[in-house]
Amino acid sequence: MAALSATVFAAVPITVSTDNVALRYMVGDDGTLCQSYFGKRMADDSYASLGQGVEAFTTHGYTDQFEPALHINHADNNSSLILKYVDHKVEEVKPGVTTTTINLADPVYNDAVSLVLTAYAPEDIITCHSVITNNSGKDIELEKYASSMLHFYAPEYYLTEFSGDWGREAAMSSQPLRFGKKVIDTKLGSRANAMVSPFFMLSLDKPATETAGDVVLGTLSWTGNFRFTFEIDQMNRLRVISGINPYYSAYRLKKGETFVTPDFVFTYSDKGVGQASRNFHDWARNHKVKDGNGDRLTLLNNWEVTGTDFNEEKLVNMMHDAKELGVNMFLLDDGWFGNKYPRDNDLQGLGDWDVMEKKLPNGFAPIIEEGKKLGVKFGLWIEPEMVNPKSELYDKHPDWAITLPNRDIVTKRNQLVLDMSNPKVQDYVFSVVDKLLTDWPDIAYFKWDCNAEITNIYSHYLGKDQQHLYVDHVRGLYNVLDRIKAKYPDVPMMMCASGGGRCDFQGLEYFTEFWTSDDTDPVERIFIQYGMGHFMPSKVLCAHVARWNGDVKIKFRTNVAMMGKLGFDYNIHEWDGKELAYVKQAVKNYEKLKPAILDGDLYRLVSPYDGNHAVNQFMSKDGRLGAIFTFDIYPRWGEHEYNVKLQGLDPNARYDIFEIDRFEAGDFKYGEYTGEYLMEVGIPILTGYRLHSRVYEIRKH
Ligand code: DGJ
Repeated sequence: MAALSATVFAAVPITVSTDNVALRYMVGDDGTLCQSYFGKRMADDSYASLGQGVEAFTTHGYTDQFEPALHINHADNNSSLILKYVDHKVEEVKPGVTTTTINLADPVYNDAVSLVLTAYAPEDIITCHSVITNNSGKDIELEKYASSMLHFYAPEYYLTEFSGDWGREAAMSSQPLRFGKKVIDTKLGSRANAMVSPFFMLSLDKPATETAGDVVLGTLSWTGNFRFTFEIDQMNRLRVISGINPYYSAYRLKKGETFVTPDFVFTYSDKGVGQASRNFHDWARNHKVKDGNGDRLTLLNNWEVTGTDFNEEKLVNMMHDAKELGVNMFLLDDGWFGNKYPRDNDLQGLGDWDVMEKKLPNGFAPIIEEGKKLGVKFGLWIEPEMVNPKSELYDKHPDWAITLPNRDIVTKRNQLVLDMSNPKVQDYVFSVVDKLLTDWPDIAYFKWDCNAEITNIYSHYLGKDQQHLYVDHVRGLYNVLDRIKAKYPDVPMMMCASGGGRCDFQGLEYFTEFWTSDDTDPVERIFIQYGMGHFMPSKVLCAHVARWNGDVKIKFRTNVAMMGKLGFDYNIHEWDGKELAYVKQAVKNYEKLKPAILDGDLYRLVSPYDGNHAVNQFMSKDGRLGAIFTFDIYPRWGEHEYNVKLQGLDPNARYDIFEIDRFEAGDFKYGEYTGEYLMEVGIPILTGYRLHSRVYEIRKH
């Protein structure tokens, strides 16, 4: 990327770098912190020719006239902030991970602002957050408090967003950026990503492809409202401001108090989008996701099979179905609780987490015991942050729900969001999990749902600090999750919010995976998993074989789900003998391919957005085992089917390619090739069949 301005004297250089990426700051002679470079890491000598650049973290109210990163209102009504460099320090947190803290302060009001940048060298990921301390001696109000500001200077900028809706999460669309602002944000409060995932992709100069071009991928680690602002000024310079959405969130900071913003996480690649995604996948597994390098449990879930209409016998039978399938766990979904207000549908009962005696007179014991005999674990669905107005919890504590005084209550899915800013509510939510695990220590897994966004924005706890609610709600959730993680570190959990309504990396510090979408139509899932997979490793993308889209055969459905964290939401008795035999074989194949799919490198060979096919290749980290998933979705008659070129192989090595996972047939040796041939010439694995899929195994000699 180009330097940002002509050379001016610069006293203090600060370089934050990974193996291949560098972000360079310089402190100007007036003490202003400037960003002088962001892009490919260069030799130290080369940085010496850089100019000072532009102010790195701009503030409201003094000289800058574009969107600021920070806006503080002081007690005397002076709303300006001037930040001058104080000092900086660099610490090695662990091998390959270095944190640089740059301390800035206002010389008159003494507000202190630190930028904390952590560089993950081998993964080429940098995280950045700001820490704001009120040293002004009086209360201040934070009106805008970004985590990060990045500056770019390129002839053209292309932005890709990942917006959508329930059932079509992370749909990708791109646009060129021009003078002015483009904002991507959410204001839903909880289930915040239902309409837009907290991701963006920015190509510089020209749209990047999978294998070529300069591209930046960024996300905010925050399970609430976020905002990314892209603003181009009159010089065609771009600033990207990332942080909590300041919408209705002005935050009062008492004297001496500190506000820590969430991490903005980003990477840069000069080799296209595929490399940038692999950077994220590696970082997520190595540093962020709970048990990121651990295994994942395959499962059978009852939601799409029974809904809330089940009894002990049906569930015990499903334990047997799980065993028959060969999966690790049976997951009991919604509908098992509530006695005064039985949870027989979604109209009532949320909040009353006692086992429903009518349906399960012996509690979970018979299901758990059967599971123990069969070697199948037991997992449980909960939704502890929510309440139905028709519940004992709401009868007792109406003020625990987020509702407006003097207004009719507006519910979403007949439910309200509990006010997580209230410590009593936090204790209660913790107690839901704590009590379940105390009463039923064999619960091996939770699916933690969250099916409503915040409506009726008002906290009965926060008093005059109403604008703290969106922020303190998320912080309250983290308090609870911290306590759960500390007491029950080994219980894996699925994050869920009517599908992918929660898909952020901070959530994944507590959850091992997330429910990618309620939409289990395999065709739609190809697109949803493709979008999410730009940031999220397959390991965290829960993908279940279910019934949506009756046109699709079992093999295609299963192959789509095998590209994520595999599960089933199916009545296995609806399959004929051949189908069941196929699925059981597929579960075994999945176990064999896990080192490639869950822990390896993803290469997106053919994008579903480009036509009527999709192909993904996964390679294990040692390069010995690979899997190719090909999908012919709706090819047109007479369409040319070009060879698919593989990636990430050793050109000098030889590889066997087997077609595996065949319906009613054994593995078939497709051919033997050099890595060079596979990458330069490719193989003809696309077909003209509709809704057709194949799985190939790659074995290195
Ligand atoms: C929404 C989830 O996304 C579904 O998988 C299911 O758990 C339902 N909630 C249950 O209410």
